[in-house]
Amino acid sequence: MKKRFLMTPGPTQIPPEVLLASAQPIIHHRTAEYSELFARTIDGLKYVFQTDNDIFFFASSGTGAMESVVVNLCSPGDEVLVCSSGKFGERWQQLAETYGLKARVLDYPYGSPVEPDDIASSLSVHDGIKVVFVTHSETSTGVVNDIEAIGDIVDKTDAVLVADSISGMGSAEFRTDSWHVDVAVAGSQKALMLPPGLAFASVSGKAWKLVEQSTLPRYYFDWRKARAGIKKDKPTTPFTPAVSLTVALDSSLAIIREEGLDDLFRRHRTMGRATREAVKALGLELFSPDEERCSSVTAVKVPDGIDDAELRRLMLDRFGVQLAGGQGTMKGEIIRVGHCGFYNYSDIIVTITALELALKTLGHPVEIGSGVSRAEAIFAEEGS
Ligand SMILES: Cc1ncc(COP(=O)(O)O)c(C=O)c1O
Repeated sequence: MKKRFLMTPGPTQIPPEVLLASAQPIIHHRTAEYSELFARTIDGLKYVFQTDNDIFFFASSGTGAMESVVVNLCSPGDEVLVCSSGKFGERWQQLAETYGLKARVLDYPYGSPVEPDDIASSLSVHDGIKVVFVTHSETSTGVVNDIEAIGDIVDKTDAVLVADSISGMGSAEFRTDSWHVDVAVAGSQKALMLPPGLAFASVSGKAWKLVEQSTLPRYYFDWRKARAGIKKDKPTTPFTPAVSLTVALDSSLAIIREEGLDDLFRRHRTMGRATREAVKALGLELFSPDEERCSSVTAVKVPDGIDDAELRRLMLDRFGVQLAGGQGTMKGEIIRVGHCGFYNYSDIIVTITALELALKTLGHPVEIGSGVSRAEAIFAEEGS
């Protein structure tokens, strides 16, 4: 018998009712039924994003929405600021370079947060910067950046703030409008509890002014086409939408609304804290910052003498628990536990149990039960 626990920061586990929703017979997208569904999902996304801005969605992975941001806001040669402290910050840089933008890069080591003061300095020295790109939850390291502080800074300038919250949206607190985020990007396969295949972007009025000036070529990802569709009496998409994923999204958004954002963020904070405390109790070193905000992914240094691939293989083959390894410069150095989305105490307890047993099997000195008992203590303390 094989029971699997997908504990990666995307794709993530999916609630059974969401999976069932996606298995419904297909409805046609040029119908009133689809328009109602589409409008309802946009409303639900606005609740999760905490925004009144327009939200567009695309049949693509998260990177598609990131690319849509660049081609809709920018023109060749535009000066932009990229804040990078991991693999997904690097992706903004790669996209900017791909499209011929002049990217100034605030480059931080993997594991460090972006310093809001550095953004303020860059914007004051380089007043031609049109767009600031940041990552909310840097999935490759577990760092969650202080978007509220960054938003306060960028809001006082003419620059537009773009935040990649692909692994943060729906797990780590994110308030698009009150934090002055002009463009927020999310993806389906993380805390939104869906299969991969949908990507979302919310766009403010300030950002829309850049859309009107942008000269980069775009077709499928043209926000002007998407906007024309959602403004119709019966909202629609310019191209065939991913119908089954949209039906599933409707179901997952209903689950999120039922829990409520406050409880949802509290649950994630508790899981993050329990995971961090448990690995510390096992004598392992955290790579993620030991901070409440870092509640989407926990990154842990692989102990000396342990091969990360072997550890993860053992956890998967013997205990059915799938973790992620390191990315970019952290390959082989860390393991990552994803707990964004459809997760609760039971997943964390199973993961820590498997980690203890796998480390023991590999000859690493761990006291069996010490991590689990610490995690349980946190859950007891926080009433989970
Ligand atoms: C923060 C972040 N940005 C971007 C991406 C890229 O998304 P996708 O792989 O869906 O294109 C990911 C995926 O893990 C991510 O976590």
